[in-house]
This record gives sequence, structure tokens and C-alpha cells, in this order.
Amino acid sequence: MLKAREVKPDIYWVGAIEWNERYIHGFTMPGGSTNNAYLIVDEQVALIDTCTPGFEDELLGRIADVIDPARIDYIVSNHGEKDHAGSIEAVLAAAPRAKVVTSSPQGLKVLRRYCGTDREFLAMADGDELSLGKRTLRFIHTPMVHWPDNMVAYCPQDRVLFSNDAFGQFLATSQRFDDEAGPDLALACAKKYFANIVMPFARQTAKAVAAVRGLEIDLIAPAHGVIWRSAIEEILDCYEAWCALEPADAAVVAYASMYGSTGRMARTIAEAFMAAGVKVRLYDLQVSDISDIMTEVMDARWVALGSPTHNKTVLPAMGQFLTYLKGLAPQGRCGIAFGSYGWAPSGPAEIAEVLQGAGFQVPLDPLTAAWDADDADDRRLCQAISDLLGRPAQQGR
Ligand code: FEO
Repeated sequence: MLKAREVKPDIYWVGAIEWNERYIHGFTMPGGSTNNAYLIVDEQVALIDTCTPGFEDELLGRIADVIDPARIDYIVSNHGEKDHAGSIEAVLAAAPRAKVVTSSPQGLKVLRRYCGTDREFLAMADGDELSLGKRTLRFIHTPMVHWPDNMVAYCPQDRVLFSNDAFGQFLATSQRFDDEAGPDLALACAKKYFANIVMPFARQTAKAVAAVRGLEIDLIAPAHGVIWRSAIEEILDCYEAWCALEPADAAVVAYASMYGSTGRMARTIAEAFMAAGVKVRLYDLQVSDISDIMTEVMDARWVALGSPTHNKTVLPAMGQFLTYLKGLAPQGRCGIAFGSYGWAPSGPAEIAEVLQGAGFQVPLDPLTAAWDADDADDRRLCQAISDLLGRPAQQGR
């Protein structure tokens, strides 16, 4: 028997817990995910967002715990990505008189593809309101958090912000609030989510955060993860800081190695950063989670990436990471390419090229070692990093 959870009087969480989901467009989710939907029971009944296809029965089952789904008057689609809009058709089948509410013009473009061009939508401009009876929903456009169509819905009477992707976390849990799951866990999951989903749109996200900053908020109810109740100021402060993309005095060294030479170079480079007092994380891409690495890249001023030349290019694990990095393209960082080679250093050269294309400053020529890196290569790498940082190695660290 599926249960809804009342999160404010007559406002219910009716989402789907995706306990065994592990992957969404490159982001690995070892802790699963949650697609949140919310039911507001007023003189008119509104459903805020739906869920991923395949979870329609869970969504409708939780709604049925509160009301007959046929009573739904409005399906508010804050965002057309399928994890939120993918069950609109199933809800419409159960609630045939419901009207679909979306942003104009971008939401209309998406939903007309999903729901057909002959369907009538209620299209909301930025600032438009929808009366439910005792309550109103005010729609605030938040383009690019995470698609052009995104909007959030604010209910001033209950002081609830239905924020869709913004402030979300990928986390499957039976707990619905941040204080139940633990604010530290919620904030850590929110940071990983920001680094892997929101970071390319940091400038637009800063505008969205500014737009909601002045609202009186008791709950931020995102479409993923737990509801913010106890750490509202903290998550808003974090978003403001993350949107600034200001790196710390930290380095990420990530590599793929064939017979150990590039791995040795990676450890030497990591030691050189450590000797200069820089906080370092070192990752072997062949055994590491690229989503975890991107979370560290968000904080890092220096990102050193290494692969040997393999078939004139890089090893597959590095190729995958470069594709992911190119898409997320964190700005304001410095990239370093390195790797060993046999006949031509085209692997490290390709890394440097991708880093430049992704917006990294690349101040050094690729650091390379012919065949097996040796002690002389170690000394050369350490000197290159020391020169780059302008800091001599610290003794005794
Ligand atoms: Fe959670 Fe952009 O969808």
C-alpha cells in the first residue's frame, strides 16, 4: 500500500523513490534517486511535476492515498525533462479533465512534443499566478536550471517553493526532510548534484537564486531528494558560493595508465602539489567514479589529466572523462596535460587540446615521458609544477 506524506497542511509528497537507479546522463548515483511530485489539495487540486516513465504506478498510487486522481485539476510541469514530465500522459489518463501548466514559450515547445500539438496548455509567463482557491501559485522562470523551460512555483500562503531541479540531490531515502536524512548528507549530495548537473549553468543559476532569495520560505521542495526545512539558509548560501565557481587552493590529478608509467607521473605530480602545500585528490580513472571526480574539480584551481598515447589517442577511460569534462566545462581553472608515450605524445597533446576547448587555461606544454618515466622525469615534473605555482617545495610536509 503506497502512502503519501503530508509536508504542509493539504500539501502532500507523492513522488517515486528510485532505489535502484544508478545512472542519469553520465551521473552515477550509488545512493539511488528520488523523483518528487507534490499534490496540493485546495478548491482546485494541483499536482506539481510527475516522475520518470516506469514509475507511474507509484506516483498514482501515492496520489490515490489522498484523493481520487480524477480530481486533479492542474498538472504543473515545472520542467519538461522526462524525469519530471515523463508521466504526464499517465496522469492525464487518470485525470482526463486536468489542464497541463507549463512555462511559455519554452515549456510549451517541449510538452507539445510529449503530449501532442492538439492539447491545450496553460502557459505561464514569468510572474504569472494561478489561483487554487485559498492558495495561489506564482511562477518564476529559472531558465537553464536546468533547461531553457525551467520554472519554479511559489506558494506564498504556505511559504513553499517548489524548485524542481534547483536545490535537488540524487538520493533515495525513506526520509523526506533534510533534518531527517541529516543536513550534512543532504548538502553533500546537493554539491555533487550541482557539480554534475547545474555547474555549466552557474551564471543563470545565480540569477535564479537571486530571484528566490527575497521570498519568505518555510520549505524548499525540490524535484529530487529531500525537502529543505532546517538548512534553507545553508543551501541558499551554498548555491551562491557554488555559482561563483571560485576555486580553492586545491588540485585534482586524474589519469589512466597502461603499464604504470603514466600512473607514476600522476603520483609524482600529486606529490609536487602536496609539497607546495596544495590540497590534492588523485584518481585512477579506470577504477574511479567520474561524478565524484567532477565534484572535486568544482573546488580545484588545478586539474592535471594524464593518459599515455594509445592508438594515437588517449585510453578509453580518459576519453570518457574528457567528454564529460568538456560538457560540464568548469570555468576559471588551470589544466595540465601529461602522459607517457612510445613513438609520439599525441595522447597528452589531445588532453591539452580538450582542456583548452573546455575553457581551461593551459599554461604548460604537455608533460611527457618517453616509454617508462624515470627519476629524471620525476625531477622535471616536480620542477614544472613548482615553477607553475611559483612556490618552492615545503620541507617536512
Ligand atoms: Fe531532474 Fe533536468 O531534470
